[in-house]
Amino acid sequence: MAKINAAMVERLNAQLGRELAASQQYLAIAVYLRGRSLENFAGFYFRQVDEERNHAMRILRYLLEVGAKPIVPQLDAPSTDFSSLTEVVKLSLGYEEAVTAAIHELVDAASDGKDYATFQFLQWYVAEQIEEEATFSKLLDIIEMSDNVLQVEAYVSQMSVAKAGE
Ligand SMILES: [Fe+2]
Ligand SMILES: [Fe+2]
Repeated sequence: MAKINAAMVERLNAQLGRELAASQQYLAIAVYLRGRSLENFAGFYFRQVDEERNHAMRILRYLLEVGAKPIVPQLDAPSTDFSSLTEVVKLSLGYEEAVTAAIHELVDAASDGKDYATFQFLQWYVAEQIEEEATFSKLLDIIEMSDNVLQVEAYVSQMSVAKAGE
């Protein structure tokens, strides 16, 4: 069984918390968008809720697999008040960038500690964050170029079709 040190367990648990917090934040955003009748856009965020939860669950399962104890954290309340779609997507992109930085720090720590198992485990997250940042920055571009929210709705609905066809 791969052994990981206590400091790495703590770091992974912190990341588990960040993934769950992202899930909660995207849920709050989905509810906000649904409240404005932007169903496609809300649907996109509802899918992100599940994705982030899966990111958390991967870490939880990894910790269990290596005989470490996952900690189910208390989370801060997500932001629920937004004044524009730009604000919503900027917040999300900022969140993803912070997660990428945190993942990179974890990779550094695994590499410095010669923790090859965790280093390997983290590679999936490195790749995933490239996709996540690209998705949200495209969305931000579209919002900034759109004249109205219906264009954003149309774009997001195409995104889901593209995703389903992958
Ligand atoms: Fe994530
Ligand atoms: Fe994400």
